[in-house]
Amino acid sequence: MRTHILAHRGASRYAPENTMPAFRLAEEMGAEGVETDVQLTKDGVPVLIHDENVRRTTDGKGFVQDYTFEELRMLDTGSWFSSEFRGVQIPSLEELLQWIRDYPLLLHLELKTDVISYKHIEEKVYALLRHYQVLDRTCVSSFNEETLSVVKDLNPSMRTAFLTPTKMRKLIPYLSSIPVDDLHIKHTLLSKKLIHHCNKNRVPVRVYTVNRPALLRKCFHLQCAGIFTDVPDIAISIRKAKER
Ligand code: G3P
Ligand code: MG
Repeated sequence: MRTHILAHRGASRYAPENTMPAFRLAEEMGAEGVETDVQLTKDGVPVLIHDENVRRTTDGKGFVQDYTFEELRMLDTGSWFSSEFRGVQIPSLEELLQWIRDYPLLLHLELKTDVISYKHIEEKVYALLRHYQVLDRTCVSSFNEETLSVVKDLNPSMRTAFLTPTKMRKLIPYLSSIPVDDLHIKHTLLSKKLIHHCNKNRVPVRVYTVNRPALLRKCFHLQCAGIFTDVPDIAISIRKAKER
């Protein structure tokens, strides 16, 4: 099995995370897919930003949910990263979908409902995925099982993944009890035993966030289903060397 290289928040080591330049760069570098984080504006528009608060990655302050989409678009989400990206705007999910449909990329959408329960985010995201005809290459993930359950109710064939940063006892029975297909684990949980156990039970495992060469090699060696990385270029060269 070939481990998919998925650009975490786009190629986020080289361009501001969760922006169109970061997604475009990931595609140019040859990543198989992109991962991004979805939150909702005050007027219910799904937008791509990791934190609930805009402070860290923009020149604004306050919560995403307190901005209308129009207000959010006034913020600069490039300058904090480098002056080269001054004026870059927070993308809507729709902007990403309009772009991605022309490329054969996998899409990992993480719905950030673990802190704020955005009303109807699942329905809004699902409607856009259907409209842009990208359902078959999308996996919706979340730290919040309830979100995954709503997504599965909307469409039982929608691929879903449960995200966890902590070691879980009785993992497989737990995963069978919630509506998920795949497991996304924090890199600190990676072990041969866990991957073998999941493989045996036909649960694909992807690992976040894998940037160090030694850890990248380990993920490829263990044949994880995918890795989320800020450095898709490095991951690709390491995987190439291994395949030679
Ligand atoms: O989806 C994998 C990974 O992005 C989860 O953690 O905090 O980077 O969104 P975080
Ligand atoms: Mg994420």
